[in-house]
Amino acid sequence: MTPAPAQSIPGFDDLDLDWLRARRSVKWNRPDQNVLPAWVADMDFPTPAPVVAALHDAVDRHDLGYPDWPDGSPLRRVFAKRMAERYGWAASADRVREQTDLIQCLQLILHLATTDGDAVAIQVPNYPPFLATLRTMNRRVVPVPMEDTDDGWRMDFAALDADVKRSGCKALVLVNPHNPTGRMLTHDELGELAAIARRHDLLVISDEIHAELTYAPHRHIPFASLSDDAAQRTVTLTSATKAFNLAAIRCAVTHYGPDRLLALRDAQPPDLYGTVSPLGVVATQAAWEHGDAWQRDLLTVLDRNRRRVHEVISRRLPLVRHHLPDATYLAWLDTRPLSLGEPPVEKVLRNGRVLLDGGVPFGPEAHGFLRLNFATSQPILEEILARVTAALSSREG
Ligand SMILES: Cc1ncc(COP(=O)(O)O)c(C=O)c1O
Repeated sequence: MTPAPAQSIPGFDDLDLDWLRARRSVKWNRPDQNVLPAWVADMDFPTPAPVVAALHDAVDRHDLGYPDWPDGSPLRRVFAKRMAERYGWAASADRVREQTDLIQCLQLILHLATTDGDAVAIQVPNYPPFLATLRTMNRRVVPVPMEDTDDGWRMDFAALDADVKRSGCKALVLVNPHNPTGRMLTHDELGELAAIARRHDLLVISDEIHAELTYAPHRHIPFASLSDDAAQRTVTLTSATKAFNLAAIRCAVTHYGPDRLLALRDAQPPDLYGTVSPLGVVATQAAWEHGDAWQRDLLTVLDRNRRRVHEVISRRLPLVRHHLPDATYLAWLDTRPLSLGEPPVEKVLRNGRVLLDGGVPFGPEAHGFLRLNFATSQPILEEILARVTAALSSREG
């Protein structure tokens, strides 16, 4: 049975290709004109109107002088309020510090809390710059495999417990919701992780950047909100950049649970790690305070798109393993049963003229996987899916 065509949503489904191709962002700028990009985690949708209005307001008033933030930016308070409202987590505004992006947040925490040769656990596959960071900073990677089961992606907590003990691990980098699988850990699973962290005295560096892109009935739970012990050993990293599509604003926040780490951070020369742009703060504040209506429409579109990807891949490429993501706008496709004989990203680019992500940058175990970004309009997604499935079905080339 052919499903009824899903409803088109104004503002999200009426994207113009020339308008997208005129963008300077890497997603649209890098590929050739005849290629459709579904790779880097940027969305194609227009910026939320409240963010545009706030940025215009600052620029129109020529409000580009030094900011007056003796006690930190307003984001500290706005972040704490949002965490309380959304998750019932009593984050403390006094424990928030601003950074330009989450990669910088991670590097700073690793720099302050660990040293050359220390073991750090991280889920694999993972967001490539995080894995690259651990390599460049010469931290020993303790891989925490995401395992593909008939019920979706799972973590083996007994194996993690043993690995952490054996390696003398200092920290766990937790990406929840997880990029690239889209898995959202449940309360029970987070509890298992919290017990392991407590048993082995791990610092937990919790990346929650995709938290607001969660599909009901799944529910995001900030790791630091689990218990007093978790709160005291967790550094939470987030920003408005994923859930409101604002990567260019270069603005993120870190919430420090451990007193010692916060003191260490504050003992650094104040500008050593850069300072955040007031325009980044204006945009983030507008998104967090006035962007919820836009985000509700966004989630309707993304939920429809994730189901469409799942349906088309299951029907046209039944050998490709794939789970409906619980969160994120990323689909993680296991093409290994197709025995393509070449990295699928290259095959899809050459035969289908779609640029996807995937493969070994996400970790050695990601060989043969594709990551498809479905945060685009219905017509563009249909064209992407038609091209990808045709490219992966074709035997030649
Ligand atoms: C899990 C995760 N963390 C961090 C980032 C990047 O964040 P930022 O641009 O703030 O460094 C991404 C981007 O896709 C991501 O998926």
